[in-house]
Amino acid sequence: MVSLRTLIPLFLGGSTLCAASVRTPHEKIAPKVFIVSMFQPEAEAWWNIPEFNLLAHNISVPGLSPLYPEVHCTENHEICQLITGESEINAATTVTSVAFSPLFDLSQTYVFIAGIAGVNPKRVTLGSVTFARYAVQVALQYEIDIRELPSSYSTGYIPLGSDYPDQYPTSIYGTEVFEVNADLRSIAAGFALQANLSDSSAAKAYRAHYATESGEYKAATLAPGVVECDVATSDVYYSGNILGNAFENTTKLFTNGTGDYCASAQEDSATLEALLRSSAKKLTDFSRIIVMRTASDFDRPHPGEATTENLLYADAGGFEPAVENIYRAGILVVEGILKGWDSTFASGVKPRNYIGDIFGTLGGEPDFGPGRTQSLAGSGAFKKRNAGAGLGRRS
Ligand SMILES: *[C@@H]1O[C@H](CO)[C@@H](O)[C@H](O)[C@H]1NC(C)=O
Ligand SMILES: *[C@@H]1O[C@H](CO)[C@@H](O)[C@H](O)[C@H]1NC(C)=O
Ligand SMILES: *[C@@H]1O[C@H](CO)[C@@H](O)[C@H](O)[C@H]1NC(C)=O
Ligand SMILES: *[C@@H]1O[C@H](CO)[C@@H](O)[C@H](O)[C@H]1NC(C)=O
Repeated sequence: MVSLRTLIPLFLGGSTLCAASVRTPHEKIAPKVFIVSMFQPEAEAWWNIPEFNLLAHNISVPGLSPLYPEVHCTENHEICQLITGESEINAATTVTSVAFSPLFDLSQTYVFIAGIAGVNPKRVTLGSVTFARYAVQVALQYEIDIRELPSSYSTGYIPLGSDYPDQYPTSIYGTEVFEVNADLRSIAAGFALQANLSDSSAAKAYRAHYATESGEYKAATLAPGVVECDVATSDVYYSGNILGNAFENTTKLFTNGTGDYCASAQEDSATLEALLRSSAKKLTDFSRIIVMRTASDFDRPHPGEATTENLLYADAGGFEPAVENIYRAGILVVEGILKGWDSTFASGVKPRNYIGDIFGTLGGEPDFGPGRTQSLAGSGAFKKRNAGAGLGRRS
């Protein structure tokens, strides 16, 4: 463990003019790439590799997870890694703590979310590497247990402030959708395309079960590849055809038809809200975020299989290749950024798409949602359809 005491020589080393202060911007740790891992296996994918040693500096940062209290950095601090801990609360708290920490200058840093995910077999197969433009908080909705639901509803999830699953939410919380830099995403996917992706014989056998007459799951039957498609965030680790389809619909609805649901994880929207807030204060740059998820399992069973079998018992064989491919694809992204630093990445990849949240917090008009003005109006606590009944949300 290395804490502030060990950092002081570093600060002083770079500071002959301002020896009185160890906190001038110049002396902060300013990594070019900050890898965001969510739990131990994703973190370890980057350790003991030939390209760099992330364990050269272990830096305690107040506010990090009790399980993962340290940020890891290479010797020259060009590459760092944080481990959020799993689920939305851990991700938001950890990333907020790092993004607002006085130890770092992250204004030029590329934040590289690199984790595993459950995937939609309509779009992706086990071992594949996905890069998202949208992260959608799909379970930010009303939920009625299916056993108490009128038969006219296709799902028990109903957008907040709405009456039916296919209506845009009118009660807006601000974390429904995040959109990141689509050009940067394509550049990162291009780097990853050069990777020789790992696979397993168990994954090969399991994905073969997704072959159907209709070809609905053709993508699931192919060898691992690189796909540009979007990620859902939910604390609930959902599984099955009905929820998979329901949240695919939610992704389309919340993004006004653009979002392409392929991956499901428990943190990305939370990480992005923290980065949105720090970017609003110019502590981070929201145009420098890459969201990569590798496929460890399918979000729904193959034809003829019970949902519980796919979720709980089957050996899908995707976990090991998914973790390995975080490294195999991710290392090319990290190296691509470092090699192209002077030519491209120092000055940044200017986004041509809207980036940010539903409120337009970072400027610009969102290409999803009801627009800045209406979203802010919809962020009030009242349920539109029944305002007289009182508060429409629990808080
Ligand atoms: C940093 O922590 C890791 C374990 O998390 C350890 O293996 C490594 O030796 C530590 N590095 C230093 C420089 O103490
Ligand atoms: C992938 O494998 C091919 C053939 O072995 C090799 O030429 C290439 O360098 C490998 N690519 C990477 C990124 O390791
Ligand atoms: C998803 O949307 C389609 C088209 O509106 C609808 O037919 C289907 O029932 C929806 N699925 C779920 C699970 O809500
Ligand atoms: C998105 O869809 C909603 C609901 O149909 C609509 O009110 C809103 O104007 C659309 N937003 C954009 C940016 O197209």
